Amino acid sequence: MRIDIISVVPELLESPLGHSIMKRAQNKGLLEVQVHHLRKWAVNEYGQVDDYQYGGGAGMVMMCEPLAKAIDELSLDRKYDAVIYMTPDGERFEQRTANRLSLLENLVIICGHYKGIDQRIRDEYVTMEISIGDYVLSGGELAAAVVTDAVARLLPGVLNDETSALTDSFQDDLLAPPVYTRPADFRGRKVPEILLSGDLRKVEEWRFEQALQRTRERRPDILGE
Ligand code: ADE
Repeated sequence: MRIDIISVVPELLESPLGHSIMKRAQNKGLLEVQVHHLRKWAVNEYGQVDDYQYGGGAGMVMMCEPLAKAIDELSLDRKYDAVIYMTPDGERFEQRTANRLSLLENLVIICGHYKGIDQRIRDEYVTMEISIGDYVLSGGELAAAVVTDAVARLLPGVLNDETSALTDSFQDDLLAPPVYTRPADFRGRKVPEILLSGDLRKVEEWRFEQALQRTRERRPDILGE
């Protein structure tokens, strides 16, 4: 999968995409992420990419021309399956959105700043608008990193244990059950006996029960309760 991210603060994406599983995915050639500085397509030598909004009001708007030029230039090299704009008024990002995106080949992600991007770019180029939650970040970069991470870990071969993405919270519409590692007794808090029993069928049953109970307690909305 290839993801091209357009940003005015590309530095914000370096660390989230440069370590751990994201780094491994890229080193293995399963994921290619290119971050593009929007100023490369600025309208003048001062690097201008934003301007005052028509109609007045505080806050700058990212201009059409740099974004259009960026997307047009990137599109010369490949056909994009989706042009995504990160915005708090987009569709709420969920596990099923990540699953759907992980099946695509080439994505462009536009990170907004200030008051956002000119509506005409949304009308002309953007095919999907994503919000990572009902709060406002100071830019789309962290949101783009969240989406990239959630999608990349689903690509076959990225996780070592192929099954582990399938047992994540939300993957089967349940939260994940509790997990334990050594020691078996931590300050008197013991690991549930069943996990030490070696009976895999019973362990699976227990995990399912725990997942169900946790979901009921914490997120009854997921179960439609
Ligand atoms: N940009 C600013 N806030 C955002 C959010 N909640 N989701 C996606 N992009 C954003």
